[in-house]
Amino acid sequence: MRIEIPNETERLGAVLINSVQKVYELDSGSSADPETPGNGYLIQRMPYEAEYEIEKSMAIVVPMRNERIKLVEGVLAGIPNQCLTLIVSNSDRSPVDRFAIERDAFNRFARFTQKQVLVVHQKDPNMAALCQAAGYTDILDEVEGRVKNGKAEGMILAKLLVSLSGCRYIGFIDADNYFPGSVHEYIREYAAGFYMSNSCYSMVRIHWHSKPKIIGDALFFAKWGRTSKQTNHFLNSLITAYTGYETEIIKTGNAGEHAMTMNLAMNLNYSSGYSIEPYHYINMFERYGGLGITTLSEEMIEKHVEVMQIESRNPHLHDFGKGDEHIEQMTYGAFQVISQSPICPAEIKEKLSGEIGELEREYPQISPISYYPSLADIDKDAMMEAIEKLPYAPIIAKCRERKR
Ligand code: GDD
Ligand code: MG
Repeated sequence: MRIEIPNETERLGAVLINSVQKVYELDSGSSADPETPGNGYLIQRMPYEAEYEIEKSMAIVVPMRNERIKLVEGVLAGIPNQCLTLIVSNSDRSPVDRFAIERDAFNRFARFTQKQVLVVHQKDPNMAALCQAAGYTDILDEVEGRVKNGKAEGMILAKLLVSLSGCRYIGFIDADNYFPGSVHEYIREYAAGFYMSNSCYSMVRIHWHSKPKIIGDALFFAKWGRTSKQTNHFLNSLITAYTGYETEIIKTGNAGEHAMTMNLAMNLNYSSGYSIEPYHYINMFERYGGLGITTLSEEMIEKHVEVMQIESRNPHLHDFGKGDEHIEQMTYGAFQVISQSPICPAEIKEKLSGEIGELEREYPQISPISYYPSLADIDKDAMMEAIEKLPYAPIIAKCRERKR
């Protein structure tokens, strides 16, 4: 892959946010190919070998709930063989056990491809027991004691599991993507971001090139979704309020397709449902922005947290037959995590509270946001002991054995 270096960086304390980077070539050859001297100043080449090494240490998590198996099989086909694949499903178990059908199909896929694929159900009591062993019970439902519903809750469970695998990176890919080629591209861009980053605390967020829609009888390649436009605006206003310079640096406030180093993943707090992605920014600013909420450690001042935003080339086509209601939930979640943060300046809070009030009046069923602590203090030994008794033990052990 050949990718431009960021031409601008905004800084808030130890958090560096790089401007969107464009991909020039999806494939730029191997390290043996000659390169024009000096070309690396503006455009960076990531040779196959470097990409392979990063992907070998990357877990790709596919959160899913009641998606069509054929669609998800396409997604799995797009994940490089060297990545550990983890499917966290919250699909129905009755009246038809959709999960049992998924598990059989994905395990068969794993046999055919010789890929390391781990398939778990979010509501499996064993997963709850693992959270108990880890001492991380915040994502458990108080009545049933199982992991709560929600995409974020599935993602946090995935982080707990991946922390046992020895992988250095974790990336997320939605299960309802129609183009295996775009899945493949996103993962290569995650690798390119980590390849270019100078920090072991880094995050790569994908900015879709376009999201095709059918308008009338023609295709329209939309650039921005309704929610992301507003989320980006408020996140950028927040940075502006602190730096005094107007900025539009953030283009990936809601990026569902994102990856981070496990070092960062274990140290961030999280929020529920679809608010998890905008909250990444907020929590990075709270923790590492030097805004008086926490004291910055010497290590973070030296190493920084680096955010890379990469513009993909493939259009993003996902299942848009799911109805519109959760768009409002997504917007509401983003507004809430920004406005409830202690770092949110009063004038932004005021603007947001008007918007939040309107959404609450229009959609009285809208769910409130929950917050979850970081995974920094989990008991990995106790988790390892608990996992030994589960059918997942061999694959976790295999991952740890792989040379990383
Ligand atoms: N494990 C799990 N548990 N997965 C879930 C759950 C759940 O409770 N709910 C939804 N998912 C899965 C879906 O099956 C899909 O693979 C993925 O999470 C995203 O859900 P969608 O319902 O397809 O969300 P979206 O397409 O509207 O929004 C996506 O893109 C946004 C950016 O535009 C999400 O990734 C958002 O988080 C993101 O902000
Ligand atoms: Mg979707």
